[in-house]
Amino acid sequence: MKAFNDLADYSHEEIRALVDLAGRLDSHPEPEALKGKVLSLLFLSPSLRTLASFQAAMVRLGGGSFVISPDMSIHGLEVRDGIVMDGVAAEHIREAVPVIASYGDAIGIRAFADRKKIENDLAETRFNSLTELIDTPYINMESAMNHPCQSLADWKTLDDFDMPANGGKFVLSWAYHPKALPLAVPAATLHMAAMRGMDVTVLRPEGFELPAPVMQKAIFAAEESGGSVRETADRREAMEDAHVIYAKSWASTRHYGDRPADQKLREQHLGWCVDESWFGNAKDDARFMHCLPVRRGVVVADEILDGPRSIVIPEARNRMLAQMAVLHRMLGGTS
Ligand code: CP
Repeated sequence: MKAFNDLADYSHEEIRALVDLAGRLDSHPEPEALKGKVLSLLFLSPSLRTLASFQAAMVRLGGGSFVISPDMSIHGLEVRDGIVMDGVAAEHIREAVPVIASYGDAIGIRAFADRKKIENDLAETRFNSLTELIDTPYINMESAMNHPCQSLADWKTLDDFDMPANGGKFVLSWAYHPKALPLAVPAATLHMAAMRGMDVTVLRPEGFELPAPVMQKAIFAAEESGGSVRETADRREAMEDAHVIYAKSWASTRHYGDRPADQKLREQHLGWCVDESWFGNAKDDARFMHCLPVRRGVVVADEILDGPRSIVIPEARNRMLAQMAVLHRMLGGTS
């Protein structure tokens, strides 16, 4: 495995095999599988789960890792091309990335969307400009439009909680958040659930439609898997017989890159906070998922996070197991 960048790069069977390997590494640990291997971790955007779970994954497999991020005691990282570096930053990303990569056997990179022009973010301009600098195997730890490690963990979580694949009803819902957040998780989640074969409904207010290429990619995956994809602004219609609701906030696509206009639109939807009333016509045992971090009382009510519907903690733990499977494949474990 030279790159883990997008679930779409793999077949349904290959993803299932990774999910199975994640489960096996949990029940049958392999503490020497990656002995002597090093994973470089470059975080150009903040993290808790990804940062901790990759380090834990490497330790559990017998390898090691190191982390570099701009807020550490480094020389100030310049990311702009064609700039005269006569300001604070004394190191350019064009040297930093290959140097960091050269210390490891693989590199994980996190670089969020610029959120200025949607065409650039859909084309993964920023993330690709970094991976073009290296020959080392790499892992996408969240880019403008993808979060494959989250999606692999989410697939495993759906399996762990016996959510049906074909015939399973998955609601990906926008939720209120005071900031315009990236599209990476909703885009990746939609594709993952469609690829798994579920009937996926994107529930969102007007102005927050996911971009056409994102929808199209999921529709194609659903055609292959026997699932389906649709979107609506009608909560009751979306939630009917739902097995799971996956909440996430994202930026307004109508006003992408225009923060004041986005703010004005999102403030009309303060009521999009998931609480028990959302589940009236869902399956009795319908579950709640979220990639975390999540704002309590804003995105979701305490009664949901603290109640039996929430599976956000096992979902987060599955990040570590899913990444162990990816690292095992990438860095030469025996199976
Ligand atoms: N879900 C997720 O990627 O969490 P972090 O941003 O904390 O890594």
